[in-house]
Amino acid sequence: MAAQKKLIIGNWKMNLNVQEASTYLHKLEAAMKVHRDVTVVITPTMLALQPLSLQINRHKLKLAAQNFHWRDFGAITGEVSATQLRGLVTYALVGHSERRHMFGESTKDTREKVQAALRNHITPVLCIGETKAERTNEETNDVLRDQLVGGLANVTSEEVDQVVIAYEPVWAIGTGNNASPHDVEAAILTIRSQIRHLFGRDKAASVTVLYGGSITADSAADYLALRGVDGLLVGGASLKLHEFTSIIEKAHSAAE
Ligand code: PGA
Repeated sequence: MAAQKKLIIGNWKMNLNVQEASTYLHKLEAAMKVHRDVTVVITPTMLALQPLSLQINRHKLKLAAQNFHWRDFGAITGEVSATQLRGLVTYALVGHSERRHMFGESTKDTREKVQAALRNHITPVLCIGETKAERTNEETNDVLRDQLVGGLANVTSEEVDQVVIAYEPVWAIGTGNNASPHDVEAAILTIRSQIRHLFGRDKAASVTVLYGGSITADSAADYLALRGVDGLLVGGASLKLHEFTSIIEKAHSAAE
């Protein structure tokens, strides 16, 4: 049986201005190989989405938004809606731990955003994960279940195939302390069994689940080889051309 297509998402966070993002995209497209078994997505600053959507070769790469507001339009100063992003991006992150912890994004917010993304034909990437304290207190499984149940509450079983789940332990993001493959495998199992509980056995197997947190070109293959891991959400390493192209190659090897 052929392995499921792998999904690699590079999250550039608040790095690279529009000019730098454009230059990096140019270099990335020149350096990367296209593989039919790997989907590659970049997540630049909101400012760069419009110009990059004109520049990008959509056969090679897709665009994602880092954040958006769940209402489609209205008097909400400073926000950008999924309706405004529609047509520009294929994916959008929802509930990244930096949004949850720095901006107090709640589970209810993630639920509204998942709905807004689906309504606007954008694939939401729902990020979930426990803090260090929660892991120490053995609350990891409860946190994952709560964030899944809360974020997916209004999603139908038809829609769940259009949702991506990213397991990102908070303590592993941007710290260099990546989670052990053993812990990731256990967390992914919890995620898939919760999906089975909510949407049935078939969806538990078919939903796309990623790992993210301090991934490097050296560690990528260890996670891609795990049962139930369909790809990676890469932060820091996605800003380094060689690292990122090497992670894409590892995903291709894992998918073969
Ligand atoms: P990191 O970020 O790879 O730099 O840890 C991952 C993320 O925030 O998605």
